[in-house]
Amino acid sequence: MRKLVFATGNPGKLREAAEILGGEFALVTPAQVGITEEIPETGHTLRANSLQKANYIYEKTGLDCFADDSGLEVDILGGAPGVETARYAGPSHDSEANMTKLLTEMARREKEAAMARTNGQSTPKATRGARFRTSVTLILGGERHFFDGVMEGSIAKERRGNGGFGYDPIFIPAGYTQTNGELGEEVKNTISHRYKALSAMAAFLKESYATKP
Ligand code: IMP
Repeated sequence: MRKLVFATGNPGKLREAAEILGGEFALVTPAQVGITEEIPETGHTLRANSLQKANYIYEKTGLDCFADDSGLEVDILGGAPGVETARYAGPSHDSEANMTKLLTEMARREKEAAMARTNGQSTPKATRGARFRTSVTLILGGERHFFDGVMEGSIAKERRGNGGFGYDPIFIPAGYTQTNGELGEEVKNTISHRYKALSAMAAFLKESYATKP
């Protein structure tokens, strides 16, 4: 079995990645290869962060590895929270506080835009459009490869459903009326930004090993 280190301490993510990659790969965590400290994540883009985390593992272990970083872009907020998604409402990564801040900021912007329109200014029509993005960096035999995934959708006016994690109760994926919180992980994991990026990586790995065993 091929060994790959996945830069995560999140058992849910590890399970999801193992399912997508299939049985040919043994996924191991940083802790299992002796990295117990928190891996730094100080980049200004999702790609910079996934590259920084993968580089950190590769420099310490020399093993094939990959890392991911995800973020939510909301149109009416000019693409925020983006790379700040996990800590939008503060460093504690509190999902409830993050969702409350997002809904409050969106309501404020919508009100501002409506006021501007009443004053005769032309502002783009308020939109609740949003998307999740994932950037994955794979280091294979010392070479870096990047894979991206996007899940388009919109932000609900209020929380619905309690499946999933993070912003799932307020994110409605395109083509659905339910939030990710209502759809649950089983559906979400077949359409998500992370699923798309990891599937692209899985296809690349299978091809690489088929041509260079
Ligand atoms: P991470 O880089 O995968 O840890 O994602 C950063 C933050 O984005 C997380 O802490 C969540 O708040 C949010 N996030 C990422 N993926 C999802 C998702 O699939 N559903 C809801 N929130 C997500």
